[in-house]
Amino acid sequence: MKQKSPATPAIKKFRTIVSRSYKKHGRDLPWRRTKNPYHILVSEVMLQQTQVERVTTKYAEFIAAFPDFRSLANASLQEVLRVWQGMGYNRRAVALKEIAVRVIRDFNGMLPDSVDVLATLPGIGRATASSISAFAFNLPAVFIETNIRRVFIHFFFQGKQNIKDQDILLLVEKTLNRRNPGEWYHALMDYGVLLKRQFPGLNKKSAHYQKQSPFQGSNRQMRGRILKTLIERPATASAIARMLMIDAGQAGKLLLQLGKEGFIIKKGPRYFIAA
Ligand code: ADE
Repeated sequence: MKQKSPATPAIKKFRTIVSRSYKKHGRDLPWRRTKNPYHILVSEVMLQQTQVERVTTKYAEFIAAFPDFRSLANASLQEVLRVWQGMGYNRRAVALKEIAVRVIRDFNGMLPDSVDVLATLPGIGRATASSISAFAFNLPAVFIETNIRRVFIHFFFQGKQNIKDQDILLLVEKTLNRRNPGEWYHALMDYGVLLKRQFPGLNKKSAHYQKQSPFQGSNRQMRGRILKTLIERPATASAIARMLMIDAGQAGKLLLQLGKEGFIIKKGPRYFIAA
């Protein structure tokens, strides 16, 4: 057993500030009212790259359409992508469906609680595996995301630049409330949201800071439009190029890419959503 060092005064003070703020300003979000591992999985995958407001609506729709692992595993990719529309990063929808298939087939219908096992599932990195483990199973997994990163930079790295996640993670582990990790992480995230308003530049001090590239006119936008079109009906490459007002070369490239990634298949001259 690793020896746990006692909380220093600085750590105690940090915990008090964050917990008090949570009691006063904590957000009541739909996925925070459940410990259902399927619901937590869906919400955490959605929250990876989409803002809370949009996830709130889509999470309810998704759970209503696919209430459990079995219904998601049995749904067609077309149905899943249709419900996913508006979220962006459609790969996550493919991954969620694949996870459902594996949970039914390999795990007796039950999502594993171990970070190492969760991280073997498609679309689930260490951070998401850990957040699921903490929120669904209340296990003391150690992770950061963008809001949590901001909190630690603010409290523990004042005047520093180029701050590494590795160094932040050591502090996340040290300050973690092991009696109730799920609630503690909610408190950290919400404190991070408050700090963003007060100090907009904090995450620029992270060594891993990346500016979002513009969505308008990007390949990502066009890929999304192609899938949206094909969800409604199959189409040829030239019809797609015409509808999206892009040249045939670009349409061909994007279709090839979407095919390789398992989103679509070509039958004769037409493209379909994959089975
Ligand atoms: N509650 C649980 N997970 C969350 C997340 N990733 N972002 C915001 N609130 C959450």
